[in-house]
Amino acid sequence: MATESGYTTQLLTEETWDDFAALVEANNGVWGGCWCMGFHPEGVGAGRGAAGNRSGKQAHVRKGTVHQMLVYHGGDCVGWCQFGSPAELPSIKNLKVYERELVELPHWRIGCIFTGKGHRRHGVARAALTGALGAIEKSGGGVVEAYPEQVTDRDPQQGAYLHTGPENLFEELGFERDRKIAKWRWVMRLQLTASKD
Ligand SMILES: CC(C)(COP(=O)(O)OP(=O)(O)OC[C@H]1O[C@@H](n2cnc3c(N)ncnc32)[C@H](O)[C@@H]1OP(=O)(O)O)[C@@H](O)C(=O)NCCC(=O)NCCS
Repeated sequence: MATESGYTTQLLTEETWDDFAALVEANNGVWGGCWCMGFHPEGVGAGRGAAGNRSGKQAHVRKGTVHQMLVYHGGDCVGWCQFGSPAELPSIKNLKVYERELVELPHWRIGCIFTGKGHRRHGVARAALTGALGAIEKSGGGVVEAYPEQVTDRDPQQGAYLHTGPENLFEELGFERDRKIAKWRWVMRLQLTASKD
């Protein structure tokens, strides 16, 4: 799918695995080797290492237990937005506080967002999140939750602090604050309806 910015998006599948792997490898495994496993049920447990995380991620791709929208610039994968059901992505940050005031689980969660170094602040994350929301609409819509980092009224933030995305990007795409679960982290929600095509 082409976006307004000229980026294209594709889901992470066995066919696109090599593109995703090239981006992760070009960025030192992401966080030194997490391979975007932190939100999955097994997480990035001690003793697994980068190789274990890589094979864990690839196993999810083979089993179809991962939803991740990849963003391409030309032929290169330059970023992603992970999404999925709470069962697919149970390991969110601040879980204990989250559960304290939980009324109803959402249908979908946004997990982690990543843009490769050298591509930041050019709209990659915007394209990734827009693509993920489009895929959710195609899958029937529902309540989507995100757990972004507040970026206003504080010093400028960058890098790993923003792995759940910056709050202002979610605001731009229609999400609203639901509740605070850490000093700078909010639960934000958006209701999506199923798309017709
Ligand atoms: C957070 C991150 C995903 C943003 O990606 P990006 O492609 O640079 O973001 P975009 O260019 O699409 O930005 C869209 C909007 O988000 C907001 N935004 C992006 N980065 C921001 C920052 N550092 N501070 C405040 N707002 C920011 C802005 O509103 C921006 O719109 P603007 O550029 O028109 O002002 C990127 O900085 C990143 O990958 N950080 C590391 C995250 C990480 O470690 N992930 C690991 C996952 S396992």
